[in-house]
Amino acid sequence: MINSKILIGIMSGTSLDGIDIALTRIDKKKISVLDFLHINYSAELKEKILKLHFPEKNELEKSSMLSNDLAVLTGRGINRLLINNNLSAKQIKGVGYHGQTIRHRPEKGFSTQIGNADLLSEITNLTVVSNFRNRDIAAKGQGAPLVPAFHKDIFYSKTKNRVILNIGGISNITYLPTDGSIIGFDCGPGNILMDHWIKVNHDLNFDKNGKWAKKGQIIDDLLKYFLSDNFFKKKPPKSTGRDLFNLDWIKKSIKKSYSPEDIQRTLLELTAISIAKAIKKYCSKANEIYVCGGGAKNIFLIEILKNKTNLSIQTTGDLNLPEQQVEAVAFAWLANQTLNRKFNNSPDVTGAKGFRILGSIHQS
Ligand SMILES: Nc1ncnc2c1ncn2[C@@H]1O[C@H](COP(=O)(O)OP(=O)(O)O)[C@@H](O)[C@H]1O
Ligand SMILES: [Mg+2]
Repeated sequence: MINSKILIGIMSGTSLDGIDIALTRIDKKKISVLDFLHINYSAELKEKILKLHFPEKNELEKSSMLSNDLAVLTGRGINRLLINNNLSAKQIKGVGYHGQTIRHRPEKGFSTQIGNADLLSEITNLTVVSNFRNRDIAAKGQGAPLVPAFHKDIFYSKTKNRVILNIGGISNITYLPTDGSIIGFDCGPGNILMDHWIKVNHDLNFDKNGKWAKKGQIIDDLLKYFLSDNFFKKKPPKSTGRDLFNLDWIKKSIKKSYSPEDIQRTLLELTAISIAKAIKKYCSKANEIYVCGGGAKNIFLIEILKNKTNLSIQTTGDLNLPEQQVEAVAFAWLANQTLNRKFNNSPDVTGAKGFRILGSIHQS
Protein backbone atom coordinates (compact mmCIF):
# COMPACT_ATOMS: atom_id res chain seq x y z
CA MET A 1 0.00 0.00 0.00
CA ILE A 2 1.21 3.49 -0.83
CA ASN A 3 2.73 5.20 2.17
CA SER A 4 0.97 8.52 1.69
CA LYS A 5 -1.42 10.64 3.66
CA ILE A 6 -3.18 12.08 0.65
CA LEU A 7 -6.58 10.63 -0.14
CA ILE A 8 -9.48 11.64 -2.33
CA GLY A 9 -13.11 11.53 -1.18
CA ILE A 10 -16.05 11.53 -3.57
CA MET A 11 -19.66 12.07 -2.72
CA SER A 12 -22.76 12.48 -4.83
CA GLY A 13 -25.80 12.78 -2.64
CA THR A 14 -29.54 12.31 -2.87
CA SER A 15 -30.18 15.81 -4.20
CA LEU A 16 -28.56 14.80 -7.53
CA ASP A 17 -26.86 18.17 -7.84
CA GLY A 18 -23.61 16.54 -8.94
CA ILE A 19 -20.30 15.09 -7.76
CA ASP A 20 -18.12 16.53 -4.97
CA ILE A 21 -14.43 15.63 -5.06
CA ALA A 22 -12.15 16.50 -2.14
CA LEU A 23 -8.38 16.17 -2.20
CA THR A 24 -7.35 15.71 1.42
CA ARG A 25 -4.39 15.13 3.65
CA ILE A 26 -5.24 12.97 6.64
CA ASP A 27 -2.88 13.12 9.60
CA LYS A 28 -3.55 11.44 12.93
CA LYS A 29 -5.52 14.26 14.49
CA LYS A 30 -5.93 16.65 11.61
CA ILE A 31 -7.54 16.65 8.20
CA SER A 32 -6.80 19.35 5.67
CA VAL A 33 -8.50 19.91 2.35
CA LEU A 34 -5.88 20.58 -0.33
CA ASP A 35 -8.38 21.20 -3.11
CA PHE A 36 -12.04 20.67 -3.91
CA LEU A 37 -14.02 20.27 -7.10
CA HIS A 38 -17.76 20.11 -7.76
CA ILE A 39 -19.01 18.70 -11.05
CA ASN A 40 -22.63 19.58 -11.85
CA TYR A 41 -24.84 16.88 -13.31
CA SER A 42 -26.36 17.95 -16.64
CA ALA A 43 -30.16 17.98 -16.77
CA GLU A 44 -30.03 14.92 -19.03
CA LEU A 45 -27.79 12.92 -16.70
CA LYS A 46 -29.88 13.88 -13.67
CA GLU A 47 -33.00 12.67 -15.47
CA LYS A 48 -31.38 9.33 -16.31
CA ILE A 49 -30.35 8.79 -12.68
CA LEU A 50 -33.75 9.85 -11.39
CA LYS A 51 -35.50 7.28 -13.61
CA LEU A 52 -33.38 4.48 -12.18
CA HIS A 53 -34.71 5.17 -8.69
CA PHE A 54 -37.89 3.37 -9.63
CA PRO A 55 -38.52 0.11 -11.49
CA GLU A 56 -38.27 0.53 -15.25
CA LYS A 57 -37.71 -1.55 -18.36
CA ASN A 58 -34.19 -2.90 -18.91
CA GLU A 59 -32.94 -1.20 -15.76
CA LEU A 60 -30.03 -3.62 -15.30
CA GLU A 61 -28.40 -2.60 -18.57
CA LYS A 62 -29.29 1.07 -18.08
CA SER A 63 -27.77 1.17 -14.60
CA SER A 64 -24.60 -0.61 -15.75
CA MET A 65 -24.15 1.84 -18.62
CA LEU A 66 -24.81 4.82 -16.37
CA SER A 67 -22.40 3.37 -13.84
CA ASN A 68 -19.69 3.58 -16.50
CA ASP A 69 -20.67 7.13 -17.50
CA LEU A 70 -20.44 8.26 -13.88
CA ALA A 71 -17.00 6.65 -13.46
CA VAL A 72 -15.75 8.46 -16.57
CA LEU A 73 -17.07 11.81 -15.34
CA THR A 74 -15.60 11.24 -11.88
CA GLY A 75 -12.28 9.98 -13.26
CA ARG A 76 -11.86 13.07 -15.41
CA GLY A 77 -12.53 15.23 -12.35
CA ILE A 78 -9.93 13.37 -10.28
CA ASN A 79 -7.31 13.57 -13.03
CA ARG A 80 -7.96 17.30 -13.41
CA LEU A 81 -7.55 17.80 -9.67
CA LEU A 82 -4.25 15.89 -9.68
CA ILE A 83 -2.87 17.92 -12.60
CA ASN A 84 -3.95 21.20 -10.98
CA ASN A 85 -2.09 20.20 -7.81
CA ASN A 86 1.01 18.78 -9.50
CA LEU A 87 0.37 15.36 -8.02
CA SER A 88 0.89 11.97 -9.64
CA ALA A 89 -1.18 8.86 -8.95
CA LYS A 90 1.80 7.41 -7.06
CA GLN A 91 1.40 10.07 -4.40
CA ILE A 92 -2.22 9.17 -3.60
CA LYS A 93 -3.04 6.50 -1.05
CA GLY A 94 -6.57 5.91 -2.27
CA VAL A 95 -10.01 7.14 -3.20
CA GLY A 96 -13.23 6.81 -1.18
CA TYR A 97 -15.97 6.55 -3.78
CA HIS A 98 -19.53 6.65 -2.51
CA GLY A 99 -21.23 6.41 -5.91
CA GLN A 100 -24.76 7.50 -6.66
CA THR A 101 -27.54 5.86 -4.69
CA ILE A 102 -30.39 4.62 -6.85
CA ARG A 103 -32.11 2.40 -4.28
CA HIS A 104 -31.75 2.37 -0.51
CA ARG A 105 -33.69 -0.54 1.01
CA PRO A 106 -31.97 -1.68 4.19
CA GLU A 107 -35.21 -3.36 5.26
CA LYS A 108 -34.82 -5.62 2.22
CA GLY A 109 -31.10 -6.10 2.84
CA PHE A 110 -29.53 -3.85 0.21
CA SER A 111 -28.50 -0.37 -0.82
CA THR A 112 -27.43 0.23 -4.42
CA GLN A 113 -24.89 2.85 -5.44
CA ILE A 114 -23.88 3.04 -9.07
CA GLY A 115 -20.49 4.25 -10.32
CA ASN A 116 -18.10 1.64 -11.71
CA ALA A 117 -15.22 1.56 -9.21
CA ASP A 118 -13.10 -0.80 -11.36
CA LEU A 119 -13.36 1.60 -14.27
CA LEU A 120 -12.56 4.54 -12.00
CA SER A 121 -9.44 2.72 -10.84
CA GLU A 122 -8.40 2.08 -14.47
CA ILE A 123 -8.97 5.71 -15.50
CA THR A 124 -7.06 7.17 -12.57
CA ASN A 125 -4.51 4.44 -11.72
CA LEU A 126 -5.63 4.79 -8.13
CA THR A 127 -6.84 2.36 -5.49
CA VAL A 128 -10.57 2.90 -5.13
CA VAL A 129 -12.68 1.95 -2.11
CA SER A 130 -16.39 1.72 -2.87
CA ASN A 131 -19.60 0.01 -1.70
CA PHE A 132 -19.47 1.32 1.85
CA ARG A 133 -23.05 0.62 2.84
CA ASN A 134 -23.71 -3.04 2.18
CA ARG A 135 -21.42 -4.56 4.81
CA ASP A 136 -23.19 -2.57 7.51
CA ILE A 137 -26.55 -3.72 6.14
CA ALA A 138 -25.33 -7.32 6.05
CA ALA A 139 -24.58 -6.88 9.76
CA LYS A 140 -28.22 -5.84 10.22
CA GLY A 141 -27.50 -2.10 10.21
CA GLN A 142 -29.17 0.64 8.18
CA GLY A 143 -26.01 1.25 6.14
CA ALA A 144 -26.67 4.93 6.80
CA PRO A 145 -25.81 7.52 7.88
CA LEU A 146 -22.10 6.70 7.61
CA VAL A 147 -20.67 10.14 8.31
CA PRO A 148 -21.22 10.28 12.12
CA ALA A 149 -18.01 8.32 12.88
CA PHE A 150 -16.08 10.89 10.87
CA HIS A 151 -17.98 13.78 12.51
CA LYS A 152 -16.96 12.42 15.90
CA ASP A 153 -13.35 12.14 14.86
CA ILE A 154 -13.06 15.77 13.79
CA PHE A 155 -15.91 17.75 15.41
CA TYR A 156 -16.11 16.30 18.95
CA SER A 157 -15.80 18.91 21.73
CA LYS A 158 -14.98 18.19 25.38
CA THR A 159 -16.93 21.22 26.56
CA LYS A 160 -20.00 21.53 24.32
CA ASN A 161 -22.68 19.04 23.37
CA ARG A 162 -22.58 19.46 19.60
CA VAL A 163 -25.06 18.68 16.90
CA ILE A 164 -23.73 18.34 13.38
CA LEU A 165 -26.64 18.76 11.02
CA ASN A 166 -26.24 17.83 7.38
CA ILE A 167 -28.98 19.26 5.17
CA GLY A 168 -28.50 17.55 1.82
CA GLY A 169 -31.32 16.00 -0.19
CA ILE A 170 -32.08 14.20 3.08
CA SER A 171 -31.26 15.64 6.52
CA ASN A 172 -29.15 13.73 8.98
CA ILE A 173 -28.11 14.52 12.51
CA THR A 174 -25.03 13.55 14.46
CA TYR A 175 -25.17 14.28 18.18
CA LEU A 176 -21.84 14.40 19.97
CA PRO A 177 -22.32 14.89 23.71
CA THR A 178 -19.23 15.62 25.80
CA ASP A 179 -19.40 12.13 27.37
CA GLY A 180 -18.06 10.69 24.11
CA SER A 181 -21.18 8.80 23.06
CA ILE A 182 -22.68 9.22 19.61
CA ILE A 183 -26.17 9.38 18.20
CA GLY A 184 -26.89 9.70 14.51
CA PHE A 185 -29.80 9.14 12.14
CA ASP A 186 -31.62 10.47 9.10
CA CYS A 187 -34.36 12.73 10.41
CA GLY A 188 -36.31 13.30 7.18
CA PRO A 189 -36.26 15.46 4.06
CA GLY A 190 -33.64 18.15 3.59
CA ASN A 191 -33.89 19.95 0.27
CA ILE A 192 -35.26 17.09 -1.78
CA LEU A 193 -38.98 17.96 -1.64
CA MET A 194 -38.45 21.70 -2.08
CA ASP A 195 -36.18 20.94 -5.06
CA HIS A 196 -38.86 18.75 -6.64
CA TRP A 197 -41.59 21.30 -6.09
CA ILE A 198 -39.75 24.29 -7.56
CA LYS A 199 -38.68 22.11 -10.51
CA VAL A 200 -42.24 21.22 -11.52
CA ASN A 201 -43.52 24.75 -10.95
CA HIS A 202 -40.68 26.98 -12.15
CA ASP A 203 -38.23 24.59 -13.82
CA LEU A 204 -35.49 25.58 -11.35
CA ASN A 205 -33.16 23.11 -9.63
CA PHE A 206 -33.57 24.66 -6.19
CA ASP A 207 -35.21 27.51 -4.30
CA LYS A 208 -32.27 29.87 -3.83
CA ASN A 209 -32.09 31.08 -0.23
CA GLY A 210 -35.68 29.92 0.26
CA LYS A 211 -36.93 33.05 -1.53
CA TRP A 212 -39.95 31.40 -3.14
CA ALA A 213 -40.94 29.57 0.04
CA LYS A 214 -40.76 32.88 1.91
CA LYS A 215 -43.57 34.28 -0.25
CA GLY A 216 -45.98 31.56 0.84
CA GLN A 217 -47.99 30.75 3.95
CA ILE A 218 -47.89 27.51 5.89
CA ILE A 219 -50.87 25.24 5.16
CA ASP A 220 -51.54 23.78 8.62
CA ASP A 221 -53.59 20.78 7.47
CA LEU A 222 -50.99 19.84 4.89
CA LEU A 223 -48.14 20.14 7.39
CA LYS A 224 -50.02 17.92 9.82
CA TYR A 225 -50.63 15.39 7.08
CA PHE A 226 -46.96 15.40 6.01
CA LEU A 227 -45.88 14.92 9.61
CA SER A 228 -48.21 11.95 10.06
CA ASP A 229 -45.90 9.83 7.89
CA ASN A 230 -44.63 6.82 9.84
CA PHE A 231 -41.02 7.74 9.17
CA PHE A 232 -41.24 10.66 11.61
CA LYS A 233 -42.60 8.40 14.34
CA LYS A 234 -39.91 5.75 13.97
CA LYS A 235 -37.13 5.72 16.54
CA PRO A 236 -33.49 5.63 15.42
CA PRO A 237 -31.69 3.77 13.96
CA LYS A 238 -33.40 4.96 10.82
CA SER A 239 -32.42 6.05 7.35
CA THR A 240 -34.28 7.16 4.28
CA GLY A 241 -33.95 8.48 0.75
CA ARG A 242 -35.70 9.22 -2.49
CA ASP A 243 -37.40 5.82 -2.16
CA LEU A 244 -39.77 7.51 0.31
CA PHE A 245 -39.44 11.27 -0.08
CA ASN A 246 -40.18 11.97 -3.74
CA LEU A 247 -42.57 13.93 -5.95
CA ASP A 248 -45.32 11.32 -5.55
CA TRP A 249 -45.08 11.71 -1.78
CA ILE A 250 -45.95 15.40 -2.23
CA LYS A 251 -48.56 14.87 -4.91
CA LYS A 252 -50.56 12.31 -2.99
CA SER A 253 -51.01 14.81 -0.14
CA ILE A 254 -51.94 18.05 -1.88
CA LYS A 255 -55.29 19.52 -2.90
CA LYS A 256 -55.94 21.55 -6.07
CA SER A 257 -56.97 24.54 -3.97
CA TYR A 258 -53.49 24.92 -2.43
CA SER A 259 -51.26 27.55 -4.04
CA PRO A 260 -47.81 26.35 -5.20
CA GLU A 261 -45.90 28.84 -3.05
CA ASP A 262 -47.90 27.90 0.03
CA ILE A 263 -46.95 24.28 -0.64
CA GLN A 264 -43.29 25.30 -0.93
CA ARG A 265 -43.50 27.21 2.34
CA THR A 266 -45.08 24.14 3.98
CA LEU A 267 -42.33 21.87 2.63
CA LEU A 268 -39.70 24.20 4.07
CA GLU A 269 -41.55 24.16 7.39
CA LEU A 270 -41.62 20.35 7.25
CA THR A 271 -37.84 20.20 6.80
CA ALA A 272 -37.29 22.66 9.67
CA ILE A 273 -39.82 21.16 12.06
CA SER A 274 -38.73 17.55 11.52
CA ILE A 275 -35.12 18.57 12.24
CA ALA A 276 -36.07 20.64 15.30
CA LYS A 277 -38.28 17.89 16.73
CA ALA A 278 -35.56 15.29 16.25
CA ILE A 279 -33.02 17.51 18.02
CA LYS A 280 -35.40 18.18 20.93
CA LYS A 281 -36.20 14.49 21.32
CA TYR A 282 -32.81 12.85 20.84
CA CYS A 283 -30.28 15.62 21.54
CA SER A 284 -32.00 17.25 24.51
CA LYS A 285 -28.78 18.59 26.06
CA ALA A 286 -27.43 20.07 22.85
CA ASN A 287 -25.61 23.40 23.26
CA GLU A 288 -24.93 24.26 19.65
CA ILE A 289 -25.61 23.25 16.06
CA TYR A 290 -23.17 23.24 13.16
CA VAL A 291 -24.81 22.89 9.77
CA CYS A 292 -23.34 21.46 6.58
CA GLY A 293 -24.67 20.44 3.15
CA GLY A 294 -26.30 22.67 0.55
CA GLY A 295 -29.23 23.47 2.87
CA ALA A 296 -26.83 25.50 5.03
CA LYS A 297 -27.02 28.12 2.26
CA ASN A 298 -30.80 28.38 2.46
CA ILE A 299 -30.95 31.57 4.53
CA PHE A 300 -34.69 31.39 5.17
CA LEU A 301 -34.55 27.74 6.25
CA ILE A 302 -31.75 28.45 8.72
CA GLU A 303 -33.66 31.45 10.11
CA ILE A 304 -36.72 29.25 10.75
CA LEU A 305 -34.55 26.56 12.27
CA LYS A 306 -32.98 29.06 14.67
CA ASN A 307 -36.43 30.09 15.91
CA LYS A 308 -37.53 26.50 16.38
CA THR A 309 -34.45 25.20 18.21
CA ASN A 310 -33.40 28.26 20.21
CA LEU A 311 -29.81 27.13 19.75
CA SER A 312 -26.87 28.88 18.19
CA ILE A 313 -26.50 27.76 14.59
CA GLN A 314 -23.22 28.08 12.76
CA THR A 315 -21.83 26.28 9.75
CA THR A 316 -19.03 23.71 9.82
CA GLY A 317 -16.99 26.40 8.05
CA ASP A 318 -16.67 27.88 11.55
CA LEU A 319 -14.94 24.60 12.50
CA ASN A 320 -12.62 24.94 9.51
CA LEU A 321 -14.43 22.60 7.14
CA PRO A 322 -16.63 24.42 4.58
CA GLU A 323 -20.19 23.10 4.55
CA GLN A 324 -20.16 21.83 0.97
CA GLN A 325 -16.97 19.79 1.53
CA VAL A 326 -17.87 17.77 4.63
CA GLU A 327 -19.46 14.73 3.00
CA ALA A 328 -16.75 14.27 0.35
CA VAL A 329 -14.02 14.59 2.98
CA ALA A 330 -15.90 12.02 5.07
CA PHE A 331 -15.48 9.48 2.26
CA ALA A 332 -11.73 10.12 2.11
CA TRP A 333 -11.68 9.44 5.86
CA LEU A 334 -13.84 6.31 5.53
CA ALA A 335 -11.52 4.97 2.79
CA ASN A 336 -8.46 5.71 4.90
CA GLN A 337 -9.94 3.62 7.68
CA THR A 338 -10.67 0.78 5.23
CA LEU A 339 -7.13 0.84 3.86
CA ASN A 340 -5.70 0.92 7.40
CA ARG A 341 -7.96 -2.02 8.29
CA LYS A 342 -9.76 -0.02 10.93
CA PHE A 343 -13.46 -0.09 11.74
CA ASN A 344 -15.44 2.68 10.09
CA ASN A 345 -19.08 2.07 10.89
CA SER A 346 -20.92 3.27 14.02
CA PRO A 347 -23.10 0.39 15.30
CA ASP A 348 -24.79 2.78 17.76
CA VAL A 349 -25.92 4.85 14.79
CA THR A 350 -26.81 2.27 12.16
CA GLY A 351 -27.95 -0.54 14.46
CA ALA A 352 -25.37 -2.97 13.05
CA LYS A 353 -24.50 -5.98 15.22
CA GLY A 354 -20.98 -4.68 15.74
CA PHE A 355 -18.03 -2.77 14.36
CA ARG A 356 -17.11 -3.59 10.78
CA ILE A 357 -14.63 -2.45 8.15
CA LEU A 358 -16.82 -1.06 5.39
CA GLY A 359 -15.82 -0.77 1.74
CA SER A 360 -14.64 -2.97 -1.13
CA ILE A 361 -11.08 -2.32 -2.31
CA HIS A 362 -10.23 -2.07 -6.01
CA GLN A 363 -6.41 -2.04 -6.16
CA SER A 364 -4.60 0.33 -8.49
N1 LIG B 1 -28.27 29.05 -1.99
C1 LIG B 1 -29.05 27.99 -1.76
N2 LIG B 1 -30.32 28.15 -1.29
C2 LIG B 1 -31.12 27.10 -1.07
N3 LIG B 1 -30.74 25.83 -1.27
C3 LIG B 1 -29.50 25.60 -1.72
C4 LIG B 1 -28.58 26.64 -1.97
N4 LIG B 1 -27.42 26.08 -2.41
C5 LIG B 1 -27.60 24.74 -2.42
N5 LIG B 1 -28.85 24.44 -2.00
C6 LIG B 1 -29.46 23.11 -1.88
O1 LIG B 1 -28.49 22.16 -1.59
C7 LIG B 1 -28.67 20.98 -2.39
C8 LIG B 1 -27.36 20.27 -2.56
O2 LIG B 1 -26.85 19.98 -1.28
P1 LIG B 1 -25.91 18.75 -1.03
O3 LIG B 1 -25.36 18.91 0.35
O4 LIG B 1 -24.94 18.60 -2.14
O5 LIG B 1 -26.95 17.55 -1.04
P2 LIG B 1 -26.68 16.04 -1.48
O6 LIG B 1 -25.58 15.55 -0.60
O7 LIG B 1 -27.98 15.35 -1.24
O8 LIG B 1 -26.29 16.11 -2.92
C9 LIG B 1 -29.31 21.51 -3.66
O9 LIG B 1 -30.11 20.55 -4.25
C10 LIG B 1 -30.15 22.68 -3.15
O10 LIG B 1 -31.42 22.24 -2.82
MG1 LIG C 1 -24.56 17.06 -3.51
